[in-house]
Amino acid sequence: MGRKMLVTGGAGFIGSNFIIYMLQKYPELEIVNMDALTYAGNLENLSSIQNHPHYTFTATNITDAEAVESWFQQGIDIVVNFAAESHVDRSILEPDIFVKTNVLGTQVLLDAARKHGVTKFVQVSTDEVYGTLGDTGLFTEETPLAPNSPYSASKAGGDLMVRAYYETFGLPVNITRCSNNYGPYQFPEKLIPLMISRALNEQPLPVYGDGLNIRDWLYVEDHCSAIDLVIHQGKPGEVYNIGGNNERTNLHIVRTILEELGKPESLITHVQDRPGHDRRYGIDPAKITRELGWEPKYDFESGIKETIQWYLDHKDWWARIQSGEYQDYYKKQYGSR
Ligand code: NAD
Ligand code: DAU
Repeated sequence: MGRKMLVTGGAGFIGSNFIIYMLQKYPELEIVNMDALTYAGNLENLSSIQNHPHYTFTATNITDAEAVESWFQQGIDIVVNFAAESHVDRSILEPDIFVKTNVLGTQVLLDAARKHGVTKFVQVSTDEVYGTLGDTGLFTEETPLAPNSPYSASKAGGDLMVRAYYETFGLPVNITRCSNNYGPYQFPEKLIPLMISRALNEQPLPVYGDGLNIRDWLYVEDHCSAIDLVIHQGKPGEVYNIGGNNERTNLHIVRTILEELGKPESLITHVQDRPGHDRRYGIDPAKITRELGWEPKYDFESGIKETIQWYLDHKDWWARIQSGEYQDYYKKQYGSR
């Protein structure tokens, strides 16, 4: 694949894993990483490839149409849009930036992609746009959109713009909707790295409500391999759900982390529930498996152990992040705890 790919949000958790994965797999591929370096963007994630001859970084905000245009003028064949405000709790505190980045930013990229005739635009979306499940059933690509948080509503808004650019302008798009990811370089505001770092510091582990909400976990590399397949084989205009059939309650996740780290369950502290907290997510990945031959490589039990070990081996990485802006956010979220 000797082509030029624009990856937005490539300094974040999944985007950085994706860039490393793609540069290893496709030696001829050129990647431009466009990232505004918000609190969640961290170029340290990419230190292993920062001098790669086919890698370029630009500190550009996807809502800045002029700056985005100037990068498209240099030639872009494929767009993979990871850039987003991604944390549900932050969207409850400050919804406006979610609309700006996740809806308006997506539209800016779509306009540039259309003007310059890209061959593929992949919108990296989320199962959260489908809302919540009861005790049974799974999200399919036909499940109606019913987002419940400002985050998921803004992602659904972005998805609908992507769909409209396919229907109206024939832009060759795909939308992927993945379940919860875990793995290296995940920002320690998200459940798994948050609980690992707090357990290691023997701080209380804030479990929302009864802790019985269910998420469907996928190792980040399996998400990257699915996006790779969608880029190459996805049928224009199609949505693909991505998930590995790994539903777990939050309490199960937290207990697994405590057990692995040899820390006591007394650290678990039930705190006030997240407003509008979706009860259960579960992805039906039958379409991407059947049509594109995707299969996840990691089972949850080994993936979570590897991930815990990664955070143990990279304490400096997360300790550096847990300062400055992170502290301000945690004061807003939990007071002084
Ligand atoms: P993240 O918060 O770790 O990273 C987001 C990145 O986007 C950061 O590097 C940030 O600097 C950048 N960014 C934010 N606003 C920007 C803007 N206006 N312009 C340019 N860059 C900007 O997020 P993540 O967990 O890696 O998620 C990446 C994408 O995958 C998101 O679109 C998210 O909705 C989606 N997704 C995430 C998960 C998950 O479990 N984390 C699951 C499914 C889908
Ligand atoms: O499903 C995909 C989505 O997964 C992505 O689109 C989002 O970008 C990503 O952030 C994630 O959203 P969640 O809200 O599911 O992830 P989070 O890690 O914030 O929370 C996972 C579960 O754990 C959820 O039920 C809330 C709960 N939780 C979370 C935190 C941060 C707690 O109980 N305590 C906490 O402190």
